[in-house]
Amino acid sequence: MKVLVIGSGGREHALVWKIKQSPMVDEVFCVPGNGGIAREATDVPIDPSDFNALADFAEAQSIGLTVVGPEVPLVAGITDVFAARGLKVFGPSAKAAQLEGSKIFAKDIMEKYGVPTAAAKLFTDYGEAAAYLASLDAPYVVKADGLAAGKGVFIAKTLAEAEDAVRSCLLKGQFGSAGDSVVIEEYMEGPELSVLAFSDGKNVMPMVPAQDYKRAYDGDEGLNTGGMGSYSPVPIVTAELYEDIVELVLKPMIEGLSAEGIEYRGVIYAGLMLTKTGPRVLEFNARFGDPETQAILPRLESDILEPMLAVAGGDISGVKLKWKDEVCATVVLASGGYPTDYETGFEITGLDEASVMEGVAVFHAGTKLSEGKIVTAGGRVLNVSALGADFAQARERAYAAIEKISFEGMHYRKDIALRAVDMG
Ligand code: AMP
Ligand code: GLY
Repeated sequence: MKVLVIGSGGREHALVWKIKQSPMVDEVFCVPGNGGIAREATDVPIDPSDFNALADFAEAQSIGLTVVGPEVPLVAGITDVFAARGLKVFGPSAKAAQLEGSKIFAKDIMEKYGVPTAAAKLFTDYGEAAAYLASLDAPYVVKADGLAAGKGVFIAKTLAEAEDAVRSCLLKGQFGSAGDSVVIEEYMEGPELSVLAFSDGKNVMPMVPAQDYKRAYDGDEGLNTGGMGSYSPVPIVTAELYEDIVELVLKPMIEGLSAEGIEYRGVIYAGLMLTKTGPRVLEFNARFGDPETQAILPRLESDILEPMLAVAGGDISGVKLKWKDEVCATVVLASGGYPTDYETGFEITGLDEASVMEGVAVFHAGTKLSEGKIVTAGGRVLNVSALGADFAQARERAYAAIEKISFEGMHYRKDIALRAVDMG
């Protein structure tokens, strides 16, 4: 079978890498791909936002399955275009992807079906939002309602800061139409956790839990980023807590959406906070997490095509996932200056040496091939994942591999999965 993957990050490289291991797969294509993906899959020069052109390609090449990585094409309806043409696709419809595309849509479903989350209110009027803020205590949580590439969330310590955040969405248009409405929600505290599951619209099949690191520097200092590392499993998550998350969060969401006439087929990603009163939802995503996927997929023993085809076909009840006992740590190597301004185009060395080390996989994120060399092309450049018998070994292997890799300005966190070593 031929498979087409849409996307260009570390998540998509991990997907290509895992899909290629399937005995069902003859060839993998990727749009737009990156420097690392280009070595394993055939890059196709099609505009990734032109869904009809992508579907033409899938038809002409008899692609057996198209796998959509990022949220933007999902929310924009790529799945609907493919499905209308009878093409098999992995990823939820535009309607279902609203779970990620609109915070208030997700909140409404959660509230209606009793899924634990922070209380929230939606505003389009600055005066009303400011009056509501004044009735709350600090800290304040303000979120742009639509997709804002992870940048539309403000945790404000003072009322003035919170008002500023509302102003930048509603009055200054800083997030375009994504900020035409804002959600003001209750502040929650606790460790964060990502639980991803396959769903066919009726059943959920959870994957192993993971944790990501959002801040730029060690000890969770610095600005929020797209993610600086991840690990799986998460020792603080007991079997009982995991079961609770499946029963109290994932199942009611899928069943609730189904009751609303929305069949959710794809990966449902619950971003959770483990509060003193139990797990509560921060957000849902309609896709695999990045960089969680780079720590989850190396642990998957089973053929990933099986659940993907079953999801696309609408029935996962016959599929079982098998996981390795080994744990995995993923460290993101970023460009100097990221998450603010950074330069690109620097040659990366040591990739081949690093990727043959025991238990190690190097996934490319912001790279490209230029005159036969791999060069940096983004803020988050590489993801170094390593399996190990325990987190001490996984960390040792990941950081030993990183020693081999270099590019100008390279920076990364040294504390990825360290807390898991101490706990488990
Ligand atoms: P989100 O994109 O909604 O996951 O928010 C990004 C980050 O903001 C989360 O990972 C949390 O660290 C923080 N955050 C979001 N909502 C809340 C909340 N209600 N209380 C405390 N922190 C939050
Ligand atoms: N790791 C966060 C995300 O994928 O949205």
